[in-house]
Amino acid sequence: MSEKVIVAREIPDAGLRILREAGHEVITLSDASQPPPSHGDLFSALPGAAALLTTVTEKIDAGVLGAAGRRLRIVSNMAVGYDNIDVEAATQRGITVTNTPGVLDETTADTAFMLLLAAARRLGEGERLLRAGEWHAWGPKQLVGPDVWGKTLGIVGLGRIGEAVARRARGFGMKILYHARSEKPGAEAELQAERSELEDLLRDSDFVSIHTPLNEGTRHLIGARELSLMGESAVLVNTSRGPVVDEAALADALAEGTIFAAGLDVYEEEPKVHPKLMELDNVVLAPHIGSASIETRDKMASVAAENVVAALRGETPPNAVNS
Ligand code: DGY
Repeated sequence: MSEKVIVAREIPDAGLRILREAGHEVITLSDASQPPPSHGDLFSALPGAAALLTTVTEKIDAGVLGAAGRRLRIVSNMAVGYDNIDVEAATQRGITVTNTPGVLDETTADTAFMLLLAAARRLGEGERLLRAGEWHAWGPKQLVGPDVWGKTLGIVGLGRIGEAVARRARGFGMKILYHARSEKPGAEAELQAERSELEDLLRDSDFVSIHTPLNEGTRHLIGARELSLMGESAVLVNTSRGPVVDEAALADALAEGTIFAAGLDVYEEEPKVHPKLMELDNVVLAPHIGSASIETRDKMASVAAENVVAALRGETPPNAVNS
């Protein structure tokens, strides 16, 4: 049976094809060149829809879910994180929420490692200097930063993405510490990773990479106190969710040289970036591109679409987070 599927943002064709081949009427609210749909756009498009396919830019709260009416059966988020969705409100209305785990781990780990290398070796600063026509000669003390190879990497949240980062780090001869709620015997055996309390990890690591989901327990997990435990040559990388790090405290730590540098892909109030961070040279700022490879975005769109098709067939979708 053909149902109305609202797709909030233009997604790769791989996903649209799956929805159309299943016979559904697909309405895309904003194309690639447009900003994300507003709350108002969602309110007017949703009545009568059976499915809503979202991305991290849409805040799906009880109001939006209520506006949808009784036909809405699934909110399928094209992301592994789903902190943009009020899952409890969805559950109360009998709406399934799904995500896209497992297909973006390696790509996001590449991004984390790219930021780690770029922040340590001052790539952004060097490129800005060169483009400004201010690179006059090779310099013995110019743009030097700490080595990455052979150092200690602390991973906060050793899930699939954290493990993929650890595998990359092992290729650089790094020692791995991790902080996680449960012990990870597989990673300990495969990657010689050592479990650590958060404070010890911050003290003992040269590089810290955050891979924990955002929830009330992890909001501002890294604040002024935690940053003060890191060393003056330490580098912080965040590719998880912005609010896990207190951005103002991080800006202060970077400005005061409490830590050496940071590499960020996510921010507390995207797309806004703390103005102080924008002025600092020792932070590499990426616009939430952790999963932005062609192949991975195709896979994410396909998984999100498959979740929709399954739910509209009356099945439990493969990636339900609230069933
Ligand atoms: C996710 O999947 O949660 C990312 O942040 C979007 O790529």
